[in-house]
Amino acid sequence: MESPSRLTGLLFATAAFALGQSAHPVANMFKPQATPADSVYNVSMLMLAICAAIFLVVGGLIVFTIVRFRSRKMDDSREPVQVYGSNRIEIAWTVIPILIVVVLSMATARAVVEVQSRRMPANALKVTVVGHQWWWEFRYPELGIVTANELHVPLSTVFKPAHTVLRLESADVAHSFWVPQLAGKTDLIPGITNSMWIDPRLTGTFFGNCAEYCGTQHANMLLRVIVEPPADFEKWVAAQKLDASSASNPQMESARAAFLSLSCINCHAVSGTTASGTFGPDLSHLMSRATLGAGVILNTPENLRAWVKDPQAIKPGNLMPNMQLTSRELDEVVTYLASLK
Ligand code: CUA
Repeated sequence: MESPSRLTGLLFATAAFALGQSAHPVANMFKPQATPADSVYNVSMLMLAICAAIFLVVGGLIVFTIVRFRSRKMDDSREPVQVYGSNRIEIAWTVIPILIVVVLSMATARAVVEVQSRRMPANALKVTVVGHQWWWEFRYPELGIVTANELHVPLSTVFKPAHTVLRLESADVAHSFWVPQLAGKTDLIPGITNSMWIDPRLTGTFFGNCAEYCGTQHANMLLRVIVEPPADFEKWVAAQKLDASSASNPQMESARAAFLSLSCINCHAVSGTTASGTFGPDLSHLMSRATLGAGVILNTPENLRAWVKDPQAIKPGNLMPNMQLTSRELDEVVTYLASLK
């Protein structure tokens, strides 16, 4: 018997999921919203249609055979006529599958070439995506922005097409960037730079995952792509370019000093301060992100505190250790982080 509180928790979780408030929504790959995803969708539909036809033919023949040639009398033990070495049948079941495979390979190759050979306009937005165990780093080299786990890109319309070109790299092991509604999967491989592009035609948040097993927390290497109208995107860019907020009041000064005195800064950067670590996500505008721990929990004040207190309790195995902060240090660090709009 479920305890009432657990049941309530479950109901809340279900309601939150229904309202799209969960930190782990699932993308619907049957609703493509960018050109590369359209190509994947079209090939998938062709493949599903051919497979459905094969299923109907084979299933139909089996059902027909079962009914038509069923045993009618209990004592009917005669062998049916045996067919062996029929050239016609042999040729049919060799040639038809070969044709099907050829059609599918050609359709796939055509889609791959169409997507990969597309010339990108010179004004395409360039983003370098670096896969880390287990989070995503997004660098906008031409804009001087570094962020994590939530990629902002402009909306593409018929009148004002906007392409985003992603350069994919890895800081450690192989990962794979996959946002089903925007494009197919592309691997991020150490020592190799891959690239892909998207031109999203719908605003909103698109959910994705790492699609290549990369260790313990592979399943929690989630990502979000936030597609915004150009004006909103420009606003986001302007805010991200600013140095980290520096509200000056005595309490914040003390919180900032506490943060900068701790070893947080060996791994994390905050623009305009002495914190310049690059091993972990850039925290300059942490509060502009909706989630923490690469999408594992929503970025609420309670979750932020719980994460800083013991990241291993929330995402076991992740590379941020429990810093054993005193409760005073924890208060100061969380106060400071919460000010990084
Ligand atoms: Cu990164 Cu799986």
